[in-house]
Amino acid sequence: MSNKEMLYEGKAKILYKGPKPDTIIQYFKDDATAFNNVKKGTIAGKGIINNKMSELIMTRLGAIGIPTHFIERLSDREQLCHEVEIIPLEVIVRNTVAGTMAKTFGIEEGLRLPRPIIEFSLKDDDLGDPLIPENHILVLEIAKEDELMEMMEMTSKINDFLRGFFAAVGIELIDFKLEFGRLTDGQDGHFLVLADEFSPDNCRLWDFETGEKLDKDRFRRDLGGEVEAYQEVARRLGISLEVEDKEED
Ligand code: TYD
Repeated sequence: MSNKEMLYEGKAKILYKGPKPDTIIQYFKDDATAFNNVKKGTIAGKGIINNKMSELIMTRLGAIGIPTHFIERLSDREQLCHEVEIIPLEVIVRNTVAGTMAKTFGIEEGLRLPRPIIEFSLKDDDLGDPLIPENHILVLEIAKEDELMEMMEMTSKINDFLRGFFAAVGIELIDFKLEFGRLTDGQDGHFLVLADEFSPDNCRLWDFETGEKLDKDRFRRDLGGEVEAYQEVARRLGISLEVEDKEED
């Protein structure tokens, strides 16, 4: 890793400059954080699972016409992506009430919503990622109106697809978080693509039959068995956990 130029180290990933212009490498760590960095730990092998799961999901989404930043997986923990200008919003989809929504509105976790809810949080750790209404996004020029519409349309499509994708392996997709970025079109313009990652770090996955949690809530809530839960999701999705060790040092 040492010969690559580090651009940014986040909580669960490190970003390096990519080998070609306008590319980056995402390196997936085993580090896990919760409650805005208050709780810290590691989940052994998580980085490998998240890298491979993101590869699978981004590839499948690409195939149904969702543009993504993903180019190719380079090794167990690294993937090559287009460099994008991240829109500082967390786009959250809720199919079933859990987490913050349950707490905020005093609703028991597990209530299936009659239709999905899409909400936005401002990506700002210092402010604790506050919920932000669409009006504020537009007036504060965080995203343009057409971008907001496009994010919502893409998010809806992604949700429809992923609910079926996970249901097929006996998993209920409760909620998840997406991030979008602006990718230049090589001329003066740019278009929106799905960026960041999709993994059990940023979604809630419950076993359809038992309701067992198969996501980062096992870590957040000290339930134990987080390594096994991530492995179970990978196993059901047919993701190989054999270490390939293609990583360069
Ligand atoms: P939410 O219930 O709003 O927050 P929390 O997980 O802190 O209770 O989370 C909804 C979904 O979005 C959940 O699957 C976790 C994911 N998420 C992130 O990945 N990052 C974030 O910063 C937030 C707020 C949510």
